[in-house]
Amino acid sequence: MAKIIIDEPILLTGTSNPQLAEAIGKLVGVPVSYPVTVFADKEIRVRVQPNMRQRTVFILQTTSNPGNDRIMELIFMADAARRGSASEIIAIIPYFGYSRQDRKEMPRVPISSSVVVTMLANAGIDRIITVDIHSQQQQGFTQKPWDNLFGSYVIIPVIKERNLSDLVIASPDKGGILQATAYAKFLDAKEIAVVYKKRDITLNDVSNALAMIGDVKGRDVLIVDDIISTGGTIVNAAKHLKKNGAKSVRVTATHGIFAEDALEQIDNSGIDEVIITDSIAPSEKISSHPKITIVSVAPLLAEAIRRIRTGESISSLIF
Ligand code: R5P
Repeated sequence: MAKIIIDEPILLTGTSNPQLAEAIGKLVGVPVSYPVTVFADKEIRVRVQPNMRQRTVFILQTTSNPGNDRIMELIFMADAARRGSASEIIAIIPYFGYSRQDRKEMPRVPISSSVVVTMLANAGIDRIITVDIHSQQQQGFTQKPWDNLFGSYVIIPVIKERNLSDLVIASPDKGGILQATAYAKFLDAKEIAVVYKKRDITLNDVSNALAMIGDVKGRDVLIVDDIISTGGTIVNAAKHLKKNGAKSVRVTATHGIFAEDALEQIDNSGIDEVIITDSIAPSEKISSHPKITIVSVAPLLAEAIRRIRTGESISSLIF
């Protein structure tokens, strides 16, 4: 007899980004379940209320700082779904923690991102959905299907509202050139600038912008990056762009971590505006910051869920 799949999906979320889960739940018409609590000794406890038997279970969990607990919540929710006989377990991970540790860049270091992916696959996750994963090759860390969506789907319309006619797209390092090129295409920008960034791999979070190529004199510049952590990369890049005559400097990055004194650094920089998404739940300080605009990825993720349920292609969300 053919396997019977009941089309009543379940949407679970951990503690990382309940606002985003609610926004997605509303858009797809599925109530959000919150199965995570903690014991007195701070161990994570997961108990899912709805019946998951033969249902597709979507688990929304961003794994940003403190990433380790969030990863454990995700693994425990997936294990509960597997033991509860879910037909398919789909992890939606808008920001994938550890994704910058995606290669062995010096001797005697782990490939931490690969370790995390292996743990997720072992917990029973059948499919992964991310937004702007730091490097796309990470999809090869598992044999499971992995759809990486692009934040540009929701960011580009907001940039277009700024009516920047003589726009230059800037990549703050050589690794970001492909993403910058895609933004240039969508925004009809004729020029791309690249800042040359040097990172000392023996130190954590230390980088320097040393030079740049491209003509930005008298023009509006949009720096495109995937992550803002300490803010060092974008602040240093903005310094170079301003020194070379940029009229205005905006930044867009999908994931706003804002570690340490990143907000203060941005305050004191020549950056006019920073556009991020809510892939990581923004604190009150971030959402009320005068230079920061937050665009929700809820419509993008809801559309991906809808297409997965109907069996439609999601490649038009990707390309
Ligand atoms: C690096 O390769 C990334 O794309 C980002 O540019 C980087 O992670 C940003 O980090 P930070 O804000 O600490 O400079």
